[in-house]
Amino acid sequence: KIIVLDFGSQYNQLIARRIREFHVYSELHPHTMTLEEIRALGDVKGIIFSGGPNSVYDEGAFRCDPAIFTSGIPILGICYGMQMTHYMNGGNVKSCEAKEYGRTEIQADTACPLFKGLPAEQVVWMSHGDQVSELADGFHAVASSDTCPYAASANEEKKIYTLQFHPEVRHSVYGNDILKNFVFEICEAQANWSMHDFIDVQVEKIRAQVKDDKVLLALSGGVDSSVVAALLHKAIGDQLYCMFIDHGLLRKGEAESVVEMFGKNMKINLTKIDAKERFLSKLAGVSDPEKKRKIIGNEFVYTFDEEVKKLIVGEDIKWLAQGTLYTDVIESGTKTAQTIKSHHNVGGLPEDMQFQLIEPLNTLFKDEVRALGIELGLPEEMVWRQPFPGPGLGIRILGDITEDKLHIVRESDAILREEIAKAGLQKEIWQYFTCLTNMRSVGVMGDQRTYDYAVAIRAVTSIDGMTADWAKIPYEVLDVISNRIVNEVPHVNRVVYDITSKPPGTIEFE
Ligand code: XMP
Repeated sequence: KIIVLDFGSQYNQLIARRIREFHVYSELHPHTMTLEEIRALGDVKGIIFSGGPNSVYDEGAFRCDPAIFTSGIPILGICYGMQMTHYMNGGNVKSCEAKEYGRTEIQADTACPLFKGLPAEQVVWMSHGDQVSELADGFHAVASSDTCPYAASANEEKKIYTLQFHPEVRHSVYGNDILKNFVFEICEAQANWSMHDFIDVQVEKIRAQVKDDKVLLALSGGVDSSVVAALLHKAIGDQLYCMFIDHGLLRKGEAESVVEMFGKNMKINLTKIDAKERFLSKLAGVSDPEKKRKIIGNEFVYTFDEEVKKLIVGEDIKWLAQGTLYTDVIESGTKTAQTIKSHHNVGGLPEDMQFQLIEPLNTLFKDEVRALGIELGLPEEMVWRQPFPGPGLGIRILGDITEDKLHIVRESDAILREEIAKAGLQKEIWQYFTCLTNMRSVGVMGDQRTYDYAVAIRAVTSIDGMTADWAKIPYEVLDVISNRIVNEVPHVNRVVYDITSKPPGTIEFE
């Protein structure tokens, strides 16, 4: 394996991820890890020092264990990792006159194994205020830019290489190849790791952590919590307790499929809470979107609290598992908390209850979680499920929510999903669903005048949900969807297609 020591860069997990893409196992560790601890990890083929926000001259600036430099294990220092390497080995670091951020052209020495097979002139991504002004003994420059004489350096004898730029970001055009050269040419790692090995490692880790204790998981039926459920079940079987709250705002067939999949097929301990009445009565007559969201969020917390208390009477549930992904960790901007009391992902826990947290997906990105789900044997349609908002159909019905309106959205949405699947477009479109507009209009059906609802189709393409474009669903597919909805769903006499991108629109209607 290749380990990445974390010096605080926002890109550090991305480095590990790029290496896993080469089928070489990689994981992130704190920069305080000693050489002895590194050796205890087993077969470490290489060590990467990530970048970081510090200057080497800052008080308390991070340093690695100096013994690492003489260990003989190949090292790649990136950005801060480069500056620290030189600084700790007798070189010098200076604040740059012109700080360098963004695209930069470098001239690389292709005789250096890092740049083997790559063009000498290449565009890289720089982001630094300091740079090495004097190399440590035994190093020589292997790349430079106009303002950075030591854009990369090498000490072939000790197998220590350093880069001032970030090879892990896509803007460094040959960044991936440089990392590949480090991993295969310099560390001589073998490309034989797969998601299957990740499962083995996690299963061992979870077992060692949890021992005989019980673990609770709030299962939503979404991709992340489903994958966590499957992984934990593999690791600890009946020690896992899943709680699934049906708030009555789920899509057609969703609650049933969760029970079928996890309860019946996988035989996981699953408590399904039917809280439909509770949610709908609280929502009756409320039409303001933010009020609706608040009611749904609060009710979820209250229901979870009450039900957890019932579930753990006489039981010792010490752990709470969550499907937190690496992107969630970055977004919250904190290190993973070890113990939580209330207000977390699941929406708050009883004040007097302390859980230890297990977050086995927190080093993975969404597409890696999908690959893991497939490897764990979850069905393709579950693993590729589109994102679904916590408040569910509650925010896809404009205005107040009633059983009748829920029926309209559920049925029309089911038709849309069926036709998108038939057309093979599921993976191309980020989210696709129907909304019930609050608009009624005049129509004519079978010689009869109608005055009924308009259903809107919303379908967007997106990378991360932050921005989105409306999906260009072929007219023929839209045609079938529209016909089926007006014919099969009562009280709908018109279908409109939302052709607004985000911004200025949002993905959901409310
Ligand atoms: P918008 O509508 O803000 O949606 O463009 C962006 C993404 O977030 C989802 N979304 C929500 N998810 N609770 C959630 O858990 C919410 O209140 C909520 N509102 C929007 C939306 O489905 C899309 O993926």
